[in-house]
Amino acid sequence: MLRRKLRHCKVNCVSLFLFIALTVVTLTLFKNHNKALSFSKRNLELVEENQDHVNCTKIIKGDIEEIQTSKLDLLRVDYKKRHNRLTEKDFINLTKDCNSFTKNRKYILYPLSREESEFPIAYSIVVHHKIDMLERLLRSIYTPQNYYCIHVDKKSSESFLSAVKAIASCFENVFIASELENVVYASWTRVQADLNCMKDLYKANAQWKYLINLCGMDFPIKTNREIVQMLKALKGENSLESEKMPVHKESRWRKHYDIANGGIHKTDIDKEPPPSQIPVFSGSAYFIVSRAFVGNVLENNKARTFLEWSKDTYSPDEFLWATLQRIPDVPGSVPANSKYDVSDMNSIARFVKWEYWEGDVAKGAPYPPCSGTHVRSVCVFGAGDLQFMLKQHHLFANKFDIEVDPVAIQCLEEHLRHKALYSNRHT
Ligand SMILES: *[C@@H]1O[C@H](CO)[C@@H](O)[C@H](O)[C@H]1NC(C)=O
Ligand SMILES: *[C@@H]1O[C@H](CO)[C@@H](O)[C@H](O)[C@H]1NC(C)=O
Repeated sequence: MLRRKLRHCKVNCVSLFLFIALTVVTLTLFKNHNKALSFSKRNLELVEENQDHVNCTKIIKGDIEEIQTSKLDLLRVDYKKRHNRLTEKDFINLTKDCNSFTKNRKYILYPLSREESEFPIAYSIVVHHKIDMLERLLRSIYTPQNYYCIHVDKKSSESFLSAVKAIASCFENVFIASELENVVYASWTRVQADLNCMKDLYKANAQWKYLINLCGMDFPIKTNREIVQMLKALKGENSLESEKMPVHKESRWRKHYDIANGGIHKTDIDKEPPPSQIPVFSGSAYFIVSRAFVGNVLENNKARTFLEWSKDTYSPDEFLWATLQRIPDVPGSVPANSKYDVSDMNSIARFVKWEYWEGDVAKGAPYPPCSGTHVRSVCVFGAGDLQFMLKQHHLFANKFDIEVDPVAIQCLEEHLRHKALYSNRHT
């Protein structure tokens, strides 16, 4: 009896011991795994790149003193000396070793959530200079499941093109457009640049769900995860500005325009009315469109005919997408009735501050005054613009310029990266 009990205990004790040992090992492994994870996350934070040691938490909260201090620092004579910007040569050198490039520049090389990995996005990026800004834009939107087509202006320097190629060579999902245009301001060539990327992206992969077009002065104000969630909420609809055409803009497509000497020139020649009496709407160069919309632009006869008709107009980018968005059989479009007009503020494509709309929000203005400077009536953001901007629903904001306010970009980058790494992600 006693013996049997003892033997019984032996068996039980051994299994108990094994169970405890296994639990301890598992717990230790799990703890180390979490430790490794939080360690690698810390390595991906962008705080150390903050050469000014400005407190971005305060800047983003709209702390007036901190914004003032950072502004004064920008004005000091030795500012540029203290801030070495990465050059085209630097990027060509740095990307010779892609592993160290992506590691040192802190690229996120794995999807941060399953939701994101299952919802790839395509980007068309049209640029012509300022390689360091392009690289920071790319880094801020880069994830391995997305697709990035970069259109480099034919007028760009050879070294700029080489540097973009060098950066692209470090990623399987980043490439240069197969055809490059000489982009003339306000002309069809601006649309053609996006179309070239559209074609390449459409062919490159069949999985991506939405296409977003960007230029070198755009920056995201949402994390990739937030972008995915907002695109999902569109449920196949496109999001872009599309409003009633103001009368003063009609001559842009009622007259024939010529391109000569690197510029666009109005002629006295009247154009035919738009094909199939399509009503023309007013919008902007920026769009967020579904894959099906892109397929329609590339393959549908009605769309192709309208594109063809737009080629000799002024700034077709600012009416073409807006018009396609109101054609009944275009995927993700909305009816042409004015009740469906979408302003730039209602669309999620781009947050832009126009000088003549700036003012006191409490007194009816759509947004507060620009804290940076203006280019062609558009605000080039300063650090003081971030607080209001980050409360908006838009996915991207325009314009940013490292030469106007590097702190605005720095703080936005830091903020988004921190949010991407640490915000709660259970779903
Ligand atoms: C930045 O400001 C925040 C909020 O005022 C504060 O909690 C934080 O400690 C500051 N960070 C640094 C590095 O001083
Ligand atoms: C490239 O970078 C390395 C390491 O920083 C440096 O030693 C080398 O001189 C650079 N080469 C060129 C061509 O700039």
